[in-house]
Amino acid sequence: MRVRNLVIVALVLATIVLSACGGGAQPKTLKVAILAPLSGDVATFGQSTRDGALLAIKEWNENGGVLGMQIEPVVEDSQCNAEAAVSAANKVIQQDGVKFIIGEVCSSASIPISEVAMANGVLQISPTSTNPSVTVDENGNTKSLIFRACFIDPFQGTVAAKFALENLGAKTAAVLLDQGNDYVRGLAEFFRDAFEAGGGQVVVWETYTGEDQDFSAILTKVKDANPDILYMPDYYSTVNLIAAQAREKGIDAVMMGGDGWDSPDLDLTAVDGGYFTNHYSSQDQRPEVQDFVAKYKAEYGKEPDALAALAYDAANILFESIKNAGEPDPQKVADAMAGGSFDVVSGHITFDEHHNPIKPAVILHIADGKVEFVTTIAP
Ligand code: PHE
Repeated sequence: MRVRNLVIVALVLATIVLSACGGGAQPKTLKVAILAPLSGDVATFGQSTRDGALLAIKEWNENGGVLGMQIEPVVEDSQCNAEAAVSAANKVIQQDGVKFIIGEVCSSASIPISEVAMANGVLQISPTSTNPSVTVDENGNTKSLIFRACFIDPFQGTVAAKFALENLGAKTAAVLLDQGNDYVRGLAEFFRDAFEAGGGQVVVWETYTGEDQDFSAILTKVKDANPDILYMPDYYSTVNLIAAQAREKGIDAVMMGGDGWDSPDLDLTAVDGGYFTNHYSSQDQRPEVQDFVAKYKAEYGKEPDALAALAYDAANILFESIKNAGEPDPQKVADAMAGGSFDVVSGHITFDEHHNPIKPAVILHIADGKVEFVTTIAP
């Protein structure tokens, strides 16, 4: 009897001592949030982003984690919109206590998240948000804890405009844009500026809203102007609608767009013959790319798109920087990231003074129901 009591007391004491150590300065797990649109109009963006980041986490954990801690993902559906993104960011920071956020995909969600992150001393790395305002505030100052793993839209818009002018011999373009979407508006403006600077003419500039379903009024203007290029820098769900209606109207301009077209749900019939700029192609033969494609396919049974590749890259850049910083302190990790150089799937990355990677873009062509790699364009 007495021996058993002693054993019980010893066990209880051991448990208390162990849990006191576990709750001390060195936690055994490192929580990292993944904020992405897992439902709604652009759900494929979120699913790929989550899967890419989770693959990186799995690999780090299999290799002992980071700084001896296992990485614990906290995944939230931030829906690619400002309101949902802010509440998801507040939830993971206040309730889960995360100090590191991977996300969002869409610039209109990443920009408000960056404000919440800065106010709470949390580091954010967006895999794919390309609008300049993600990492830079309205006074032109770099947000000290905010980074991205992708190029930015002044570059993406210029690459598209140059390709239209030089490779397609275009002289005129129509541009259709959702004025209320930071990414779409920004990319439309950067394309227009570069197209005109290169001697082209933007003959139609028409806006719509995110709720619009019927684009016949603005497409009539496009039909009348008969441009060489129809530039639609929106996400695939909206592009599918506009492109199908443009075909019905008999518009035969070459359709072009940006990274927002990258989805298994892009309507390849409606945008047939078109081109879009992107971050990566799974057909790229570099060993880093082919190695990642093989691992991703083995894990999920499908081809990784650019969102999956960049989320994988963003996660690896984050964990590498935490390791280099030597402790999971957001400001120290930010310093390690800002000064680091990283060999990842989408290329070799160093950050400029605005925490933007300098890296190439690819051009993809849609022909006969397939998306084909055309070329890589360096900055
Ligand atoms: N660049 C887009 C944005 O900033 C997001 C995106 C990236 C979408 C890559 C698809 C592919 O909103």
